[in-house]
Amino acid sequence: MEKRNNKNVKNNIPFMNTSAEIENKVNDLLKKLTLEEKFKLLAGKQLWFTKPIKRLGIPSLKMTDGPHGIAPHSSNNMECTYFPTGICRASTWNVDLSREFGEALGREVRDIGSHILLGPAINIIRTPLCGRNFEYQTEDPYLNSRLAEAVVKGIQSQRVAACVKHYVCNNQETNRFKVNAIVSERALEEIYFPAFKAAVVNSDAWSFMSCYNKVNGKYGSENEYLIYKKLINEWHFRGFVVSDWGATQFISKPENCINARLSLEMPRAKVYKKNLLLEAYEEGRFTDEALNDNVKRLLRVMFLVGLFENESSLPKGERNTKRNQGIARRIAEEGMVLLKNESNLLPLNSDKIKKIAIMGPNMDKKFGEGGGSSQVKPPYEITPYLGIKQFCANKIEIINNPEDADVVIAVMGYDHELGNDAESVDRKRYELPNEQVDLILEISEKNSNVIIVLIGGLIGMSDWVDKVPAIIMAWYPGMEGGTALANIIFGKINPSGKLPVTLPKTLSDYKVHESNRTYPGNDDVYYEEGIFIGYRYFDKYDINPLFPFGYGLSYTNFNYYNLEIDKQKITKKDSLLVSLNIKNEGNYYGGEIVQLYIQDKEASVERPIKELKGFKKIFLQPKEEKIVNFRINWKDLTFFDDNLKKWIVEDGEFIILIGTSSRDIKLRSKFEFKEK
Ligand code: BGC
Repeated sequence: MEKRNNKNVKNNIPFMNTSAEIENKVNDLLKKLTLEEKFKLLAGKQLWFTKPIKRLGIPSLKMTDGPHGIAPHSSNNMECTYFPTGICRASTWNVDLSREFGEALGREVRDIGSHILLGPAINIIRTPLCGRNFEYQTEDPYLNSRLAEAVVKGIQSQRVAACVKHYVCNNQETNRFKVNAIVSERALEEIYFPAFKAAVVNSDAWSFMSCYNKVNGKYGSENEYLIYKKLINEWHFRGFVVSDWGATQFISKPENCINARLSLEMPRAKVYKKNLLLEAYEEGRFTDEALNDNVKRLLRVMFLVGLFENESSLPKGERNTKRNQGIARRIAEEGMVLLKNESNLLPLNSDKIKKIAIMGPNMDKKFGEGGGSSQVKPPYEITPYLGIKQFCANKIEIINNPEDADVVIAVMGYDHELGNDAESVDRKRYELPNEQVDLILEISEKNSNVIIVLIGGLIGMSDWVDKVPAIIMAWYPGMEGGTALANIIFGKINPSGKLPVTLPKTLSDYKVHESNRTYPGNDDVYYEEGIFIGYRYFDKYDINPLFPFGYGLSYTNFNYYNLEIDKQKITKKDSLLVSLNIKNEGNYYGGEIVQLYIQDKEASVERPIKELKGFKKIFLQPKEEKIVNFRINWKDLTFFDDNLKKWIVEDGEFIILIGTSSRDIKLRSKFEFKEK
């Protein structure tokens, strides 16, 4: 099938020539397609495939869910690696690990013979109740961006297309098919767009999934502003946009989607039915240029994923390997967050402890095959109970009576039952169910050495947080979660995860939950908090959260000192080097996430008290120290001006805050920005 004849390439470029430039191949193939064939390409054949064009030898593009492993429903029920979910991976703050995860996921997709992975899912965590928070990453646009771009790079390094979803403002599941998010341009620019933009500008994402909901009056799949103006014209996206499955159900005019640049309607033609398209085309409601652009985007991705190439020239896939499972375990180990550890109860000394009681509704539950479209069917799943039991084998007795135990490990939290942490419905409660709260209180009466392990998305703890000495937030830690948990509990691994979200004391502390208008809305949901999401909100009103953004404990302690900046003043032409020393003062090897926030001292508009603009995860041996460097330039100082409708920077003083969390600032310095 492959021709490498250069003479041929010059005049008449055959699209199957593997050495030809991709755009030449795309144009060549486009010319060969009839109008009817172009229409055919615009909608799915069935759930996970596009329609093949047999006449030209164009096979189906194959897609698969989902963001933390391949789903059984889109892979003929195959077993695949179940990685920790998005929020657990985000808690690692480890960009390199996110890239490795993307590579592993890409290898698994290659192995099942698919071309597009429907992820990463990177909607901003706007409310603790969103049923899909467990799939998403964070409340912060900067952290979201760095992690998203790493995952996309990783997936695509295997010549598998990432499909970044759900563009945009799919921040709740309640009424997700219809709700209209009314959100300011500034909030879109500063909070909701950045990670989507970074996935394109920094990682050349090959596909995007439009959201179900409307944004400022228009559904995501027909939203010219979101797709054509921002994604394509401003960010120079060269891939294609696919509708979320069934997201076009309330759209009646195909031209709206063609003009917006929705290239693929899934799972089947509804608005892109042949007769509807033909009628609109003949009436001139869309142009050949718009149609061709949509088709070219699909063709381009076909070439990028190697649809016409020989298997042997493409990266080799692998699935359920030790390597991929090892990455799942490392993410779980780095993603679990130690929230509380009074009197250094943790790590447990396995030589001294004789009896451990393990309890709680989640102690032996499996979570892979739940949650909706992101479910995964792993070949095995180490539950917390199994992981601890394996670690304790022949050393420590596992019992179930808390009164007789040296230590109690209670595994509480949520699961993926509908109405808990699952797609299509939001959670009703932020706190644990009452019976779990009662159980924690009861256990804490019987034993003072209680470790609470929480499985779930965001969880409120005010009712019991003071009653227990140790808390580990394990999120949904994947198929190796139990092993990772045991490694942390017994000190084989020093926890290094930090919260990628704010955990408020109660929901009513949060502007988003001020009224029905702001959440969940009826037809409309008003993002009245604007840019003040997460820590930006808690800082503005000086409300103490239960646990702040960026927070997480370690078994060692780090000392921050000697903050230096190389200039007092910068312009648009230069940048600022920020450096500091960090030393591991304790006795454990460990990782620390150094966070850099910037505060604009005075601005013509209200800005957040501080914003994350850099972070570094570093690992240090006991007593080891390192210099940590950051580079800041004028772009890190900008904000979106709603009146001028552009990003601007203003002259003035800026403060650099170096913290171990957003509320524990260790060092500060200041500098001036002057345009000229
Ligand atoms: C979900 C997407 C998913 C798609 C295909 C939709 O309902 O919102 O995240 O990729 O289904 O399963």
